[in-house]
Amino acid sequence: MKFFIDTANLEQIKEAQDMGILDGVTTNPSLMAKEGITGTDNIMKHYVNICKLVDGDVSAEVIATDFDGMVREGEALAELHDQIVVKLPMIKDGIKACKYFSDKGVKTNMTLVFSAGQALLAAKAGATYVSPFIGRLDDISTDGLNLIAEIRMIYDNYEFETEILAASVRHTMHVIDCAKLGADVMTGPLSSITGLLNHPLTDIGLEKFLADFKKGN
Ligand code: G3P
Repeated sequence: MKFFIDTANLEQIKEAQDMGILDGVTTNPSLMAKEGITGTDNIMKHYVNICKLVDGDVSAEVIATDFDGMVREGEALAELHDQIVVKLPMIKDGIKACKYFSDKGVKTNMTLVFSAGQALLAAKAGATYVSPFIGRLDDISTDGLNLIAEIRMIYDNYEFETEILAASVRHTMHVIDCAKLGADVMTGPLSSITGLLNHPLTDIGLEKFLADFKKGN
């Protein structure tokens, strides 16, 4: 399972990268705004800075909602760095743009996916990644993990190569459940990654090992 971090915060990206377990980064306009990165030039520069920090794919989202605009923005984003993945909204023109970019060999991430039907369309359009937002489904009392299971079954039935990128992951149990269901990738906040480290028996055990070592020295 690949681990992506879902943030535009450079320190958090660096912290995850330094652990040696990071496979990529996802961003969106809200995450950019949260870091105070505004204006096209600054946003473009920030994507390059993120690419310099990590080894893997970096999803950069278009703002346009029409095909021509998405192609224009997506091409500019893809030119920034070879790690950039063009992130497109799950609407009709987004699917058209996804097909356009996949035919050209440019990596794509279909975002704002909330149904198996949308995920099927994304795979048909050749998306590199499909991003079902599990946390936002949970927010409206709908089982986000069930969507991961449905997409896994559909993609396996037809051997689609599109990778299931579980997004809107909020906590460690989302990560573990997505891994059990066979999601190819998860993207979540730093806490959903570092939280996997925690177990009280580890802390108690380490404390005892160190205390016993001191007794003997
Ligand atoms: O990866 C998608 C993500 O940024 C949305 O997460 O927590 O805002 O639903 P959230």
